[in-house]
Parts: sequence; structure tokens; C-alpha cells
Amino acid sequence: MELFNVYPVTPINIVKAQGSTVWDEQGNEYLDLYGGHAVISIGHTHPHYVKSVSDQLNKIGFYSNSILIPIQQHLASQLGEVSGKLDYTLFLCNSGAEANENALKLASFHTGRKKIIAFSKSFHGRTSLAVAATDNPSIIAPVNETDNVVFLPFNDEDSLQKAFSEYGEEIAAVIIEGIQGVGGIREASIPFLKLIRNLCDQFGAIFIADSVQCGYGRTGDFYSHDFAGVNADIYSMAKGMGNGFPIGGISISPKFKPSFGLLGTTFGGNHLACAAAVSVLDIIKKDNLMDNASKVGDYLISELKKFDKVMEVRGRGLMIGIELPAELANVKKDLLLKNRIFTGEAKPNVIRLLPALNITKEIADQFLTAFDERLKA
Ligand SMILES: Cc1ncc(COP(=O)(O)O)c(C=O)c1O
Repeated sequence: MELFNVYPVTPINIVKAQGSTVWDEQGNEYLDLYGGHAVISIGHTHPHYVKSVSDQLNKIGFYSNSILIPIQQHLASQLGEVSGKLDYTLFLCNSGAEANENALKLASFHTGRKKIIAFSKSFHGRTSLAVAATDNPSIIAPVNETDNVVFLPFNDEDSLQKAFSEYGEEIAAVIIEGIQGVGGIREASIPFLKLIRNLCDQFGAIFIADSVQCGYGRTGDFYSHDFAGVNADIYSMAKGMGNGFPIGGISISPKFKPSFGLLGTTFGGNHLACAAAVSVLDIIKKDNLMDNASKVGDYLISELKKFDKVMEVRGRGLMIGIELPAELANVKKDLLLKNRIFTGEAKPNVIRLLPALNITKEIADQFLTAFDERLKA
């Protein structure tokens, strides 16, 4: 049996990893500034993470949500504290798409409405509603096509205002990434996020902050939307939550009332996933990783802005996009092949940096030296 071939893969087999360093099977060492797509939040094989997951596995790895699983409440309390949303509640699932799917479904249950507002260049995942709210027709299957989702231009206050004036009473939710990831590291503006809050309050719609990629401390705030000084009604999260162990969740404002059977999952909130997530929050808190993301991120962004050949540097904290002109299309590939540095990408020619939140200034300098070399090559 062969694999169903959907990923254009780089032919490198990583067999060992520690912190922000990974090694292939020939023993070659690489610097990981991609974090396995923003997933590795506290560094590969962090000793506390490895111990928590191993200890848990030696006790019990899984049982269904039909019994008490106290580690779920431990995770919820910790998340409330670290995120500052103490009165929100937590529903656990397994991925980013699932988190958004549940957020959108909950918004519709709560309001009794069907319309969703999403934005140009958005990416919210590949399950049916999440993909319908994703601005990429090539990944929306015919069965997922729906008139319930309306796309508006990102950061365009007039069109948002107009949409609410026209059919505000039908809108269940507005879903927005605080910083678009797949869309090329584009920040939602503060006035735009504030307007979403105001219009949702005025019309009884739900503000969903997709924090799957931009959240979990990556920008220096726990949720990148916090930068605007307004609260969302639901925050979806996944990538950095388990440092590689699959787990997702939604943090839900107190305006929602749960009822038995409203949401549900077999694997979501299992013992092992919770042990992984608890250890991630332990380290984010103990090592002040949100502060570190902010400091090292500011440093990287200000240094990257000094390169003449760079068209634009976007993002905040350790979610950084470096837009390069078309003639420098090889830089990302060469960083990997010649400097052994993993980075991410976005179209048309954006290098995405999504490293672990505990990278040091020395690691940032190592990247800057290699990047300089590539631009001069
Ligand atoms: C902003 C955003 N939302 C949702 C998702 C979907 O997450 P997952 O791949 O875990 O389903 C992603 C994945 O890249 C994402 O970047």
C-alpha cells in the first residue's frame, strides 16, 4: 500500500530533535525556525514535556469522556490563568479545524442563525464549515459549498459596516485570524477588531478569534487578538497547545450555556493530550515564554527591516513574514539546502518564521547571518 499523495515533501528524514535543533538520518544538523508549522511551542523533546507525557502514558493514556478526567479541569484552570480569561470555559478537541468547526457550530446554536462572515485570504481548516469559511475555492469540495458564508475584504471597515447594516440580524458569527498565517502574515488592524466587537454586540452576533496559528503566546500576548484590547466570544486554538501532541480547543465566554450532547468527541481531552498541554503551559509560565517571544520577535523584526532587498517585514512576536521580490524566490529553498535552516512559506514570496517561543537572541542572530549570506549570494 502506498500513501495517498497530497503533500509536496522535502526529501529530508528528521530522526532526532532537541529545542530548535533537528538532525536527519545522516547526522546533519538543522536549525528549526518553522517549528513544524507553528506547532513546536516549547522546543522539541523538552524534558518536562517528555516526562509529563511518558509518566501519563505509564498510568493511563486514554479513556472516554464518559468518566471523570481531572487533568482536563487542571488544564482548563491553567489556561484560564495564563490567557487571563478566567471566567471562560474550555471544550477540548483534536485539531485546529475541529476547534473552528465547533466554534462556528456553537455560534449558530447560540444565535439560531446561519450566516458567517469570513475574510479574504483566511484559512480556518479543512472540515466542512471551517473550509467553507476558508478563502480558497480549490480546497472547498462541492458538498462544502454554501451560501451561508460571506467573504469580505480583510481589514475593510466600510464593507463590514455595510454587511451588518444589510443583514446584521442574520449573522451568527464573524471569524477572523488575529494575524493571517496562510494568507501571508497579515495583521488584523486594531480598529477592525474593535469594530467587529462593536457590531457583534450591537447585532447579537458571535466574535470568533481563530488563534490556531497566531495564538498560544506566539505574538507576546496569549491570543494575538488581545493586542486590540477587546475580548472575543470564542477563541479557537490548536497548534502550539500540545507541542506536537494533537490537541485543540475552544475557550468560550460565559454568555454560552452548555447542555449535554451539544458538542462532543471521542478523543478530545484524553489523558495523554491533556498531559502534553499541561506541560506546555507549565513551561510557558515558568520560563516567561510570552515575554521571550515578544523580545526576540521585536529584535528579529527590527533587524530584518534593515535589509534593503526585503520588500516588507510583517507580523508580531515570533510570527514573522518576510516578503521578498520575485527574483529572490530561491532564498527559502537555499536557506534549507545551503544553510540547513527550516522556515515556512506563504504565497507569493513570503518566508514565514514560526519558531519555538524559547529561541534565544543567539539563534535569531544565526538566522540573520544566514539570511544576509543568502541575499548576497
Ligand atoms: C489559522 C488556522 N486555523 C485553522 C487551521 C487548521 O488547523 P488543523 O490543520 O490543525 O486542522 C490552521 C492550520 O494551518 C490555521 O493556520
